[in-house]
Amino acid sequence: VSEQVAARIRRAIEERGPITFAEYMEHALYGPGAFYERPAVGMEGHFLTSPHVHPIFAELLLRALVSLGDALGATDPLSVVEVGAGDGTLARELLQLAGDRGDRRLDYIAVERSATARARLSELNLRVAAHVRDLPPMDRGIVFANELLDNLPFRRIRATATGPIEVRVDVAGGRFVEVEVPCDPELARWAGDLPAAQEVALPIDAFELLDSVAGSLASGYVLLIDYGEATGLGGEVHGYRDHRPWDDVLREPGSADITTGVDFRAIARHAVSRGLASLGLVTQRDALLSLGYAEWDRDQRERQVRMLGDASGARAARIWEGRGRASLLVDPAQLGSLRWLLLATEALPRPKWLSTVQTSVDSGTSRRSQV
Ligand SMILES: C[S@@+](CC[C@H](N)C(=O)[O-])C[C@H]1O[C@@H](n2cnc3c(N)ncnc32)[C@H](O)[C@@H]1O
Repeated sequence: VSEQVAARIRRAIEERGPITFAEYMEHALYGPGAFYERPAVGMEGHFLTSPHVHPIFAELLLRALVSLGDALGATDPLSVVEVGAGDGTLARELLQLAGDRGDRRLDYIAVERSATARARLSELNLRVAAHVRDLPPMDRGIVFANELLDNLPFRRIRATATGPIEVRVDVAGGRFVEVEVPCDPELARWAGDLPAAQEVALPIDAFELLDSVAGSLASGYVLLIDYGEATGLGGEVHGYRDHRPWDDVLREPGSADITTGVDFRAIARHAVSRGLASLGLVTQRDALLSLGYAEWDRDQRERQVRMLGDASGARAARIWEGRGRASLLVDPAQLGSLRWLLLATEALPRPKWLSTVQTSVDSGTSRRSQV
């Protein structure tokens, strides 16, 4: 399968010369036979995301969505759009939990590029779309995405002693290699005053996605959850395969994920330029604690102790094991380091769970007083 992807990349380079890193990612992750054409997330896949770790993630996220729906004055059902919904683990849990609560049904649209994943999603009680640009206009609602932005194709701009260059992908000696080519002046400004050899990942596809979302949402919130930084550089370009880091992203394209930390400041600034307001950026740890993680864990611990007292050792052990897994969601060295960026159309309030934690993102010209 990787060979099919590599052949396509080689052909593109033969025809047009070195390709942008964004085009390379497009072929490696999303083309026929590419990485996301097969189930990538979960124990059987290549890495774990929060919904795959423990259902408490969906439970606390639902609290956040309901609070945003309340702030919106949204009616029942609440319109939500999940972009990059993957195999539907989160959607299934959210729909089930919302059904159990009874007070807030969800009108759910799952947007997903991968045809394999769309087939899984279509088994659920929701509507499926392949692209955000296919979304119907949305009067009032919430758009959210978990671990999507870091997988959207980006271009790479590197500072050098003689000025910024673009990193592209070429073929040499039968292998894919990085080459430095002169940088379009429009892109060069992204390098700012970076020290030589440092890079920025310019999230061109994330910008385009925000354009579509801002264009289709009349009133609502956008919640983006991802790895990344509050300011400046996103992070090193790296890969994942078989639950391990895969450092040479130019080797065997299609067989490994390609990602980098998201530059949340650039994302927030772009959103603001499209008329959205940036309400703040918090770590997943802080967001989940603010939404009630500690109380849930305390209840679980009490149940565990009761089970032991009732001589139900096996059940107590299962609760203990679940608490251990769930703790990864708030562990600052694990998924707790993910960040939640909340955007909104103008004049919407910041929810209580966000205002009780320290937020930080310099979104430049935001018209609201946060950040
Ligand atoms: C890292 S996975 C995360 C899946 C899921 N959100 C989770 O947390 O388990 C990223 C997903 O986004 C999908 N994706 C990538 N680009 C997309 C786009 N432009 N629109 C919709 N889905 C996209 C991929 O196919 C993949 O299923």
